[in-house]
Amino acid sequence: MKNEMLIKTANALIENNKGILAMDESAPTIQKRFAQYGIAQNEETRRAYRELIITTKGLNKFISGVILFDETIRQQKKDGTSFVKVITDAGIIPGIKVDMGAKSMAGHSGEKITEGLDGLHNRLEEYQKLGARFAKWRAVITIGNGIPSRGCIDANAHVLARYASLCQDLGILPIVEPEVIMDGNHTIEMCSEVTEEVQRAVFRHLYVQGVMLEGMLLKPNMIVSGLNCTTQPSVDEVADATVQCLKRSVPAAVPGIMFLSGGQSNELASARLNAMNNRYKGELPWGLSFSYGRAIQQPALEIWHGDDANYELAQKLLYHRSMCNHAARCGNYNASMETI
Ligand code: G3H
Repeated sequence: MKNEMLIKTANALIENNKGILAMDESAPTIQKRFAQYGIAQNEETRRAYRELIITTKGLNKFISGVILFDETIRQQKKDGTSFVKVITDAGIIPGIKVDMGAKSMAGHSGEKITEGLDGLHNRLEEYQKLGARFAKWRAVITIGNGIPSRGCIDANAHVLARYASLCQDLGILPIVEPEVIMDGNHTIEMCSEVTEEVQRAVFRHLYVQGVMLEGMLLKPNMIVSGLNCTTQPSVDEVADATVQCLKRSVPAAVPGIMFLSGGQSNELASARLNAMNNRYKGELPWGLSFSYGRAIQQPALEIWHGDDANYELAQKLLYHRSMCNHAARCGNYNASMETI
C-alpha cells in the first residue's frame, strides 16, 4: 500500500513532462536573496513573495510539485486560504524540505555534513498532516584541494539513505539530493569523477538501508566545470558528460532525475536540460526533468522588488521560466523562446 503510494507520487511528479519548482529556501537564504535586490527582509515579505509564486495562473501546466520550507507550509494567502490548499487546488503536489542545513563537518576541514535526522520521524508525520506528499534532503559536496574525502562522501550518503528510508516508512516520497557544488576552479572531468563517486556511494547506502528505488527521485547536479575554471564546456559537452555519469551510477529502477540549477544562469539551466532530452530521446531508463529554485524564480524576484506594482510582471516571468524548462524537459527549448 505504502509502496503503491510512493510509486504513484513519483509518477505524478514526473508525468506530462512537468518538473518541480523549489521554493524551499530557508529564512536566512531567502533573506540573502531579498537583500541582493533591496527587498525588505521580514516574515510578511517572505509570505507575500511566496503567495505571488503559488498564485501564478497556469503554473500547473509545467509544474507538478513545489518544495516548501517549514515556515511556508504553515502560511496562508492574505485572504486566509492556506498555501497548501492553493497548491493542491491547482493540481500541484506540495513537498517539504526536511533537512536542517549543511554544517561544518568535524574532523573534515572545508567539508559539510547535513543535519536533521534527530526527531525526523515526528517532523515527517507533522508535515504529512499539513499536506506534504514528498520531501527533500540536500547534501553538499565540495571539490577542492584534497577534498571531497571518503569520510564526507560516506557520511552524507548514509544520512541521505536514513532520511529516505524514514520518508518511505510513512509513504512520503523522498527526493535525494547529493549536490556537488559548482564553486571552485575544477575541470568538468573532475566534476564527473567526483559526482560518479558520490552517486555510487549514495546508491550503495540506499540499498543497505532498504530504500525502494522506484519510490524515490534523484536531484543531482549537472556535470559542469567549476565557476572559476578557465575552460567552460559547451552546452552539448555538459549534456553528454552528465548523461554518461548518470548512466554509470544511477540504477534504471529510479523513475526520475530532477536536476538542481545550482547557480547556473537561467538560460544555461534550460539549454543544458534541453540538450540532454534532445540528444538522448528514447534512450534513457529515467525521465530527465528539473527541480529548479533560482533558475525559475530569479527574474520574478528581481522584478517584483517587494512592490505590488510589479506583481503581474513578476508572475509573467515566473510562468515564462517554468514554460522554458518544461520545453527543455521535452527537448523542444530554443533560445528564441527567451524573447517575451
Ligand atoms: O536544494 C536546492 C534547491 O532546492 C534548488 O535550488 O535550483 O537554486 O540550486 P537551485
